[in-house]
Amino acid sequence: MSSKLIAPSLLAADFGNLQRDIEMVNQSDADWFHIDIMDGVFVPNISYGMPVLSAITKHTKKPVDVHLMIIDPDRYIKTFADLGSNILTVHYEACNHLHRTLQAIKAEGMKAGVALNPHTNINVLEDTINDIDLVLIMSVNPGFGGQSFIENTYNKIIQLKELINKKGASTLIEVDGGVSNSNAKKLTDAGADVLVAGSFVFKSAKPLETIKNLKEVANS
Ligand code: DX5
Ligand code: ZN
Repeated sequence: MSSKLIAPSLLAADFGNLQRDIEMVNQSDADWFHIDIMDGVFVPNISYGMPVLSAITKHTKKPVDVHLMIIDPDRYIKTFADLGSNILTVHYEACNHLHRTLQAIKAEGMKAGVALNPHTNINVLEDTINDIDLVLIMSVNPGFGGQSFIENTYNKIIQLKELINKKGASTLIEVDGGVSNSNAKKLTDAGADVLVAGSFVFKSAKPLETIKNLKEVANS
């Protein structure tokens, strides 16, 4: 079985010491950087935008996994490619023509991801799963870090894994929100491939050890 990946979410980093926190992730056992872009419309919060992402990607030495929580994401696909995104994830709920959006992301040389809100059923991906490199299952309502994990997530991972197997797809399953070393093993046992962790990593006293431990638990 391939190893389970850890993607620290910079939303919980210290923005006054962003380069320091990026270097910490570079040196850690983490696999990807998770970057949350919010527009204050699709979600009730605004995070950071293009100039900050441009500053971030000057220092990142691992794949950059961008999670767009914005309406009509097609407007910015090329922009995010130019800024150094390796994986670009759009919300199912924010796309009128998801199939076209996925092709546009891949045409810019990025992996294409689709995020599902907690209320969105897995079966909406039945006809697109073979075109999706990664499905991000939201295990909190998007918009904020530090929220509590929604338990129904385990069922959704199992359903998604069944769909991926049924269709012979090679889609990765990513889980985002409220992840810690207390639910990591149950999530990867259910079928998750990538765990996003914000507060659990950056609010910890020893983030390097926290990441190492989370990765060990996820792969145990
Ligand atoms: C929430 C974001 C998450 C967030 C996770 O809308 O998509 O990536 O940063 O933060 P934690 O791990 O603190 O729940
Ligand atoms: Zn996210």
